[in-house]
Amino acid sequence: MAASGPFDTLTAALGGLFVAHCLASVARFGVPDALDDTPRTAHELADITGVDPEALGRVLRLLAAHGVFAAGDDGFAHTGASRMLRSDHPRSWRDFVATFGTERTARQLGYFDYSLQTGLPATNKLNPDGFFAILQSDPEAGRVFDAAMVSKARIQVAGVLAAYDFSDRGTIADIGGGQGHLLRAVLDTAERTRGILFDLPPVIERAAAIASDRLTLRAGDFFRDPLPVCDTYLLMDVIHDWDVERATAILTAVRKAAPPHARLLLVESVIPDDPGPDWSKAMDIMMLIHTGGRQRTYGEHESLLRTCGFRLERAVATTSDVSILEAACARPGVLSG
Ligand SMILES: C[S@@+](CC[C@H](N)C(=O)[O-])C[C@H]1O[C@@H](n2cnc3c(N)ncnc32)[C@H](O)[C@@H]1O
Repeated sequence: MAASGPFDTLTAALGGLFVAHCLASVARFGVPDALDDTPRTAHELADITGVDPEALGRVLRLLAAHGVFAAGDDGFAHTGASRMLRSDHPRSWRDFVATFGTERTARQLGYFDYSLQTGLPATNKLNPDGFFAILQSDPEAGRVFDAAMVSKARIQVAGVLAAYDFSDRGTIADIGGGQGHLLRAVLDTAERTRGILFDLPPVIERAAAIASDRLTLRAGDFFRDPLPVCDTYLLMDVIHDWDVERATAILTAVRKAAPPHARLLLVESVIPDDPGPDWSKAMDIMMLIHTGGRQRTYGEHESLLRTCGFRLERAVATTSDVSILEAACARPGVLSG
């Protein structure tokens, strides 16, 4: 039933907390994988996945009320949304959604008040060196995060490739490119380009198998190490991880490395002017808690980029949540200092 009054608005909003938990848990326990084209009862699905049948029935009832699975006389069937939580879906979101049910995420959310009171990431309560330090010191957490990023990006990558022509973009550095999922897809569609994947050493180690004669791996820290000299710089969902000071440091490092003709492509979910619901606004809170970063409006990106020696020229919309913000070097030559 559509929300019609203040109480309905509140119950719909608060209920979202439980919908999200159910979503993450069914992804973690592989419930969508256990369901094929034939509807199954909660008991059958619970037998396969090793969970409690009655609890699963209640979880699936709530999810079905939100369009994830469909409830019918024969049990539960897939919808387009629940199919996207299967591991074998070409644009599977399973590994991304599942991370919201991990113990680490639950512990971070437990410190939500700390983020609200200080503006600092709740993660600091778990490790004062922050989110990426946790991932660097815990290989299993790092592997889970890498897989989540590959999963998160499937729809984004398809949207980026459909919206932007990379064929003449020369050598492309994907800075903070994770497992190279975006860069590989770009190189596959643009055969004259070459790529450099830049990320932290443990991440690059896990990506070793993707190196080729057109794709070079470079391990480093963008706060400390020089970035590669390239024709194009791609940064997808990287700047949103950081506050203005750190985002400025990364973009300034890119500007220092960039030759005057280079172009910068920030792939980000941009906060729209429209005050209505938008995924970017939920991601913004995710960034507040996880890393202390933020989603930004077009104007905020423009001013951040200007400070770092770039001129934002346009935002190319894609079919996914992200836009491609294309910037040029604001003036020829390398910044001094
Ligand atoms: C949110 S993930 C985005 C990954 C990928 N670009 C995507 O959108 O799927 C941020 C990436 O930045 C990398 N990163 C974080 N801190 C870094 C640093 N100091 N130097 C280099 N890379 C870093 C992380 O390892 C991670 O791969």
